[in-house]
Amino acid sequence: MINRDPHPNTLISVSNLSFSRGNKKIFDDISLAFERGKITAIMGPSGTGKTTLLKIIGGQLFPEQGSVLVDGQNVHQLRRADLYTLRKRMGMLFQSGALLTDMNVFDNVAFPLREHTKLTESMIRTLVLMKLEAVGLRGAYNLMANELSGGMARRVALARAIVLDPMMIMYDEPFTGQDPISMGVLVHLIKALNKTLGLTSIVVSHDVHETAAIADYIYVISEGKVVGQGSPEEIRRSDSEWVQQFMTGAADGPVHFHYPAKDYVDDLLSSGKRY
Ligand SMILES: Nc1ncnc2c1ncn2[C@@H]1O[C@H](COP(=O)(O)OP(=O)(O)OP(=O)(O)O)[C@@H](O)[C@H]1O
Ligand SMILES: [Mg+2]
Repeated sequence: MINRDPHPNTLISVSNLSFSRGNKKIFDDISLAFERGKITAIMGPSGTGKTTLLKIIGGQLFPEQGSVLVDGQNVHQLRRADLYTLRKRMGMLFQSGALLTDMNVFDNVAFPLREHTKLTESMIRTLVLMKLEAVGLRGAYNLMANELSGGMARRVALARAIVLDPMMIMYDEPFTGQDPISMGVLVHLIKALNKTLGLTSIVVSHDVHETAAIADYIYVISEGKVVGQGSPEEIRRSDSEWVQQFMTGAADGPVHFHYPAKDYVDDLLSSGKRY
């Protein structure tokens, strides 16, 4: 019998996922699908669980319920060695984007190749220079990581994330803290790399305009649920209050400014009591 994949265009599918931290339910039965070759954005207010979702997809955290399939493999049922192999095919640009500061640009990008492959130094050199060229920083190969501007550091981290030629890449807040020019450069790079390398990209961001400019599809998540999904145009036209508050950056709306807390007056009057 031929086992046909019912969704051949889906590279990553998250189905009926639930996850908690202590008493806090981060995800409550959510499902998302990420199409091959596309850029899918995950947006939502700070603290909703966007980074957590990427860690679950990458197999660093385990769901309470539900499953995550990446290229047909159930991430949380893989044996350690298989998960390790799969992870090499999943590029990740972390929120902090940390480079190793005591190494230069070249060695930072070469690091995953030296860790995970047995390539010769001359092959490593070719691959590293190609990736640095792709992010426009070949000329900076000799700079130390702490000599880079924030925008350059992010591009080097991006070169490092693609050096093993992953099938996909997950970007956690790639635009945060960038000036408008380097933001523009990153937007352009994410789009260009997705196309030229045939990647599938997940972009987690709360930068509405930048994200809407490159995403093929957007999920808006809040309080454990998917509150909106669709093309950037559909999201803009959404009549959901949650989505509108998020997209327009309104301080007032269903999303509250305060992290849930006990009553303010009670809290002040009980000063001296230990937490
Ligand atoms: N290691 C941890 N232990 C306990 N709770 C955590 C841990 N990491 C995150 N959390 C909690 O999980 C929730 C989701 O965090 P997460 O970092 O995924 O949010 P986020 O959507 O990425 O936020 P931001 O936009 O600020 O990066 C938050 O309430 C956070 O306090
Ligand atoms: Mg985060």
